[in-house]
Amino acid sequence: MNIILLGPPGAGKGTQAMKISKHYELPHISTGDILRENITNNTNLGIRAKSYMSKGELVPDELLITIIKERLLQNDCSKGFLLDGYPRTIPQADALNMILTESNKKLDVVLDIHVDDGELLKRLSGRRMCSCGASYHVIFNPPMVEGICNVCKSKLYQRDDDKAEAIKNRLVVYKKQTQPLIEYYTNKGLLHIMDGSKEIQQIFDDIKTVLDKI
Ligand code: AP5
Ligand code: MG
Repeated sequence: MNIILLGPPGAGKGTQAMKISKHYELPHISTGDILRENITNNTNLGIRAKSYMSKGELVPDELLITIIKERLLQNDCSKGFLLDGYPRTIPQADALNMILTESNKKLDVVLDIHVDDGELLKRLSGRRMCSCGASYHVIFNPPMVEGICNVCKSKLYQRDDDKAEAIKNRLVVYKKQTQPLIEYYTNKGLLHIMDGSKEIQQIFDDIKTVLDKI
């Protein structure tokens, strides 16, 4: 199964992706996580991406297209993949179509997680992350031990772009550059809207209902 998770910052893409990836045994490909890993390792890509990400801007398309092309060629994607945070612009979506066509693959579904802006602000400002990819919230989804990851026991941290100014800009950028993808994938008959305001497990149950029909 080849899946795209779409939705604004804080919609719960990463949270649901962890569950989908485990349940359906699909590689979870988060371009945000890939970029953050490059920043941590101080690679050329990380150095270029950092200034965009800290302001809440999108990293240029050509960098992302190269990343995703290389990642989708890896062996673990042969039976399917779950994209989280890619594509984010129409040129990225067009590039993905080309990459998939070249390898005789196609998209099966685009899950679009809907949440209103007020709730997104609350979710992002209370989010705590782990380097293993797990995401928590101080109130809505706290870890068992405060500040420590349930999965790998590492210390949790707050993302640089979860500060008020960057959050505001990310929401503006999402509406301008990413939201047009909703129409793009609706026209391809691939879009499924998920109500992201529900509880985490309820949303996952709704997602399973959609995916189990594919
Ligand atoms: P990225 O890392 O993809 O961030 P994002 O899209 O802004 O989304 P988030 O990761 O912030 O939110 P999420 O939807 O994963 O929510 P989560 O599950 O954590 O991208 C970061 C940056 O990298 C971009 O701004 C850009 O600069 C760059 N970038 C990445 N990809 C790019 C691309 N393709 N092109 C160009 N640039 C790119 O949940 C949020 C919080 O809510 C958590 O605390 C969680 O515990 C809580 N929560 C989740 N679900 C629920 C629920 N149902 N109820 C209550 N709380 C919930
Ligand atoms: Mg995420």
